Amino acid sequence: MFFTKKNPLKWRDIISINDLSKDDIIYLLQQAAKLERYNPRIITDKVIASLFFEPSTRTRLSFDAAVKRLGGQVIGFDNIETTSLKKGESFKDTIKMIEQYADVIVIRHPKEGSAQLAADISHIPVINAGDGSNQHPTQTLVDLYTIKKEKGKLEGLTVGFLGDLKFGRTVHSLANALGLFGVNIVFIAPKGLEMPTEYLKELNEKNVNYSQTSDLLSVAQSLDVLYVTRIQEERFKNRKDYKRVAGSYTINKDLLANFRQDVLVMHPLPRLEEINQDVDDTQNQGYFKQAGNAVAVRKAILATVLGRV
Ligand code: CP
Repeated sequence: MFFTKKNPLKWRDIISINDLSKDDIIYLLQQAAKLERYNPRIITDKVIASLFFEPSTRTRLSFDAAVKRLGGQVIGFDNIETTSLKKGESFKDTIKMIEQYADVIVIRHPKEGSAQLAADISHIPVINAGDGSNQHPTQTLVDLYTIKKEKGKLEGLTVGFLGDLKFGRTVHSLANALGLFGVNIVFIAPKGLEMPTEYLKELNEKNVNYSQTSDLLSVAQSLDVLYVTRIQEERFKNRKDYKRVAGSYTINKDLLANFRQDVLVMHPLPRLEEINQDVDDTQNQGYFKQAGNAVAVRKAILATVLGRV
């Protein structure tokens, strides 16, 4: 299905999934498939700056693992308390220093637009590892890779997004990308956590086929993939609003009896109570596979941006 062409992303920033064409995405997924079981030492002369202004387990560690598997070096921080930002140094000055120490910047920040700001300041490529509730494009590539690998295709599938569609940046990025591949989307959210209108507008402009409901069971039989998200407590302005929706949905083994036998249950993780641990040992579990695929996909992103594939 996929074809090889010249690297279209050498020295480019990856800030939003919308910056990537369908061909760019196909190129990256193709490189990830090549690199999944293969660790060529192709970035031994490269240093990657890993700047995490917000907590992370998977994104930070899978980027670290990807760099090391390809023979590169990582510098950076995962706690701004240990940096001169605590002394009042500006974001701009921080990026101006780091661009002189590294070849690529990987950045996660709680504020929307921070990755784009870093890219505007920096002369080296910037990869967005999640900016507030805005975008998480490398997670989207991991998700696309996982769906393609598990289902054998993207075109024609029906993907349901369940949960916090308002603040869930992985949903915002992935919905747009799935639209490029002719996927049908069903948004399933409790009241108050629906997909924001600005993202629906983008889908309308691209003629993406989607529907919305708050009734999961009414659409269960139509889904090839159920993409579950955590309610993003840290993004609520007040705790009362969070408490109103917390725990409003849980996928467990009994509930899965209502779905197609081969439904793929995905989650970007971390999960709280939205997927019960009794799903972990079922054939439907896809979330740990996603976390594992992250290394191959991030190897592909780094090798591509650095022009080594
Ligand atoms: N999926 C994801 O972004 O996980 P982390 O927050 O642990 O990086």
